[in-house]
Amino acid sequence: MNRIKVHDKWFKLYLTNKQIESAIEKVAQEINNDMANGEKPMILSVLTGSFMFMSSLVQKLSFTCDINFIKVSSYNGTQSTGNIKQVMGLIKPVKDRKVIIVEDIVDTGNTIEELEKILANEGAKEVKVCTMMFKPASYSKDIPIDYHAMSIPNDFIVGYGLDYDEEGRQYKDIYVLDPDQQEK
Ligand code: IMP
Ligand code: MG
Repeated sequence: MNRIKVHDKWFKLYLTNKQIESAIEKVAQEINNDMANGEKPMILSVLTGSFMFMSSLVQKLSFTCDINFIKVSSYNGTQSTGNIKQVMGLIKPVKDRKVIIVEDIVDTGNTIEELEKILANEGAKEVKVCTMMFKPASYSKDIPIDYHAMSIPNDFIVGYGLDYDEEGRQYKDIYVLDPDQQEK
């Protein structure tokens, strides 16, 4: 499909599943190379957007890890609100663990900042950040984004887990908001 409609808006094909999977393969190798022998980090999937990235990524990791989830919410339509709500807390303790946060997309960084605070409060030993998509032009925090599969301009995208008001997550490709909103 070259063009999809999600709610009231048209999106056009931006990244194919093949491109996404090969970028995930590369970032998984980076993480594998950085992991010390015998280290068993905890993978923290940030719901809901990271569910597809997470499942593809962990299949490519060469070390033992266990998987944790948390759910936060910040977006309203196509705008980040800066008001992060923890909708579901950590399902497992992170005390004294090395944690790799797995995010769908890092935009302003508000969510990552909030997650770092939560993990520090819960006693995590070390925190790394791995995101599928990174928008460097809108990122305004000092927290290093240790790993990103792809970086993109400041556009709004859907698919491969990413939503526009809870729809569009199930597409295997990624679509970008079409500047031409005409019905075609
Ligand atoms: P931040 O807190 O501004 O960094 O935004 C992070 C969250 O906003 C992500 O985890 C996504 O859920 C959502 N988000 C940011 N940009 C997009 C986008 O282009 N499409 C869909 N969701 C997005
Ligand atoms: Mg998210």
